[in-house]
Amino acid sequence: MVNVLVVYYSRTGNTRTMAEAIADAAQEEGAVIRLKGVDDASNYDLVWADGIIIGSPVYFGLPASEIKKFIEDSISVRGQLENKVGAAFVSSGHRAGGRETTIMALLQAFIVHGMVVCGDPISSGGHFGAVATGAPDDQASQECRGLAKKVVLLVTKLQSG
Ligand SMILES: Cc1cc2nc3c(=O)[nH]c(=O)nc-3n(C[C@H](O)[C@H](O)[C@H](O)COP(=O)(O)O)c2cc1C
Repeated sequence: MVNVLVVYYSRTGNTRTMAEAIADAAQEEGAVIRLKGVDDASNYDLVWADGIIIGSPVYFGLPASEIKKFIEDSISVRGQLENKVGAAFVSSGHRAGGRETTIMALLQAFIVHGMVVCGDPISSGGHFGAVATGAPDDQASQECRGLAKKVVLLVTKLQSG
């Protein structure tokens, strides 16, 4: 059984649309899903999950403060997220508006937790994670789905190894 938490912040719906695509794809891969806006998510969800996929709009080249707070609050479960799989997705206004700096900030938090972060050499889910400019187009939606599949596959491999 693979438990996947998809948690996101979204003011105008773009990141939420990506989160829904990711959750759908992970469910199709057989995972048990919790899809939550960040205000409804808690450290219990983080501990429950085998794969944690976090999404944020790009705000000044960084994650939204709501997501940053969620990450900071996870200090209470430091040590309990080790060896879980982490992945990130972001939505920006401009295609060079800081998507990768924002994703990297999220991946850094996973690393501090001792989690496993998967890159993507063929970019089915984006090299660093899934990205969209504004409302996700077909390519961005496909990358969201690809990212979800990679996370479920990697969790499955870790569980069987
Ligand atoms: C406070 C604020 C800061 C933003 N900063 C950036 C930025 O640095 N780079 C960028 O490309 N877009 C920036 N944007 C645009 C959002 O990232 C973009 O509209 C995104 O798609 C919003 O996602 P959402 O619909 O999930 O809220 C900013 C928007 C806001 C409200």
